[in-house]
Amino acid sequence: MKNIFSKTKGQTLIFKSEQYLYPEHVPARLPHRDEEIDSLVFCFNPVTKGGKPQNVFLYGPTGTGKTATARYVLNELEEYSDRARSIHINCFEQNTRHSILASITNFLGSPIPRRGTGTDEIYDSMRFVLKKSRFTPIIVLDEIDQMQGSNEASKLLYDLLRISEQEKARFGIILVSNDFSFTSRLDGRVKSSLMEENIEFNPYSPEQLKDILGERAEYAFVDGVIGKEAIAVAAAHAAKKGGDARVAIDALLKAGRAAERDNSGEVTVEYLRSAFKSIDSAPVQKIVESLNEEEKIILKIIVSKDSQKSGEVYKKYSQLSKKPLSERSFRSMIGKLSDSDLINAPLIGEGMRGKTRQLSIAVPKKEIEKHLTNIN
Ligand SMILES: Nc1ncnc2c1ncn2[C@@H]1O[C@H](COP(=O)(O)OP(=O)(O)OP(=O)(O)O)[C@@H](O)[C@H]1O
Ligand SMILES: [Mg+2]
Repeated sequence: MKNIFSKTKGQTLIFKSEQYLYPEHVPARLPHRDEEIDSLVFCFNPVTKGGKPQNVFLYGPTGTGKTATARYVLNELEEYSDRARSIHINCFEQNTRHSILASITNFLGSPIPRRGTGTDEIYDSMRFVLKKSRFTPIIVLDEIDQMQGSNEASKLLYDLLRISEQEKARFGIILVSNDFSFTSRLDGRVKSSLMEENIEFNPYSPEQLKDILGERAEYAFVDGVIGKEAIAVAAAHAAKKGGDARVAIDALLKAGRAAERDNSGEVTVEYLRSAFKSIDSAPVQKIVESLNEEEKIILKIIVSKDSQKSGEVYKKYSQLSKKPLSERSFRSMIGKLSDSDLINAPLIGEGMRGKTRQLSIAVPKKEIEKHLTNIN
């Protein structure tokens, strides 16, 4: 008998490769970010000649390409020069000075046990390995404003400042935030020495979004299944929603999946309209507030990365939470989060230990983060 997942006869294909629409995909080109890319290249160019990079602060509203641009430039830099290596830390996921110092120290090649090591001890070993490092580490502190309390970020940045002053250790820092005023709240000395450059990311205009979407669509969809008009509708809507490219790309994915399910052969303007309707109308706050503590922790882990496998999320949960969960209750919580449309959880495989799902959030990230702030 035919497997139920194999394509049924007569079904028309919509996607060439839908991965190009996944939020974690770093595109090969970033249209309309040339200036921002050039500025970053200027800041990090000294590294390629063995010099000291300029630290930089990237700010701007959600979905304007800050994370994508930082990743893109650092990928290129690492490909070009062995002298540079970068670590990307999301401070919503790792929101204490302790865990961030530990991650950096680990990255520098000095593994330290997750528990039972004091923060000062970690700081000392970081100083030590940094001095010996044969490459220039570049530390991206993404969503720095999401650290627990403003003081924690200040302390962390102060630690880094002290190291760079006392040890003459060479490293670069990229801070990323939605909030321009973030750095103005920092200690004056930290501010002046750590933030040498600012790069602002502006919301995308409808025209710019059209180019961005057009390019992603070209890779993702079979030729001819999505028309210019549908792309224009998606671009216009996302521009109205604050020029957020993430929302626009997610709408293309949702519309494409709906067209595929209906076997319609075309991603029409109507599919895009209903995709936006489902993205816009999710009453996120109410749903998040109705979740129990375990579900909130799971959701927080899912939000912290663009996309991850269910097994990884379960592992992280077990490390983070004091309350153990059986795999079975974990699965039922994932089911609940997916039913309430907070997350996407497509099945991607069946292994020895059960079904694997690819988990990612289904509504604008900031909407969820806003309501999860008291969860650690
Ligand atoms: N110029 C661009 N070209 C192609 N894709 C882009 C561009 N800008 C952003 N994107 C895509 O849009 C999505 C959101 O971008 P990104 O994650 O960089 O936003 P952000 O500014 O970091 O937002 P946030 O503040 O919410 O973290 C990603 O999937 C990214 O690949
Ligand atoms: Mg980001």
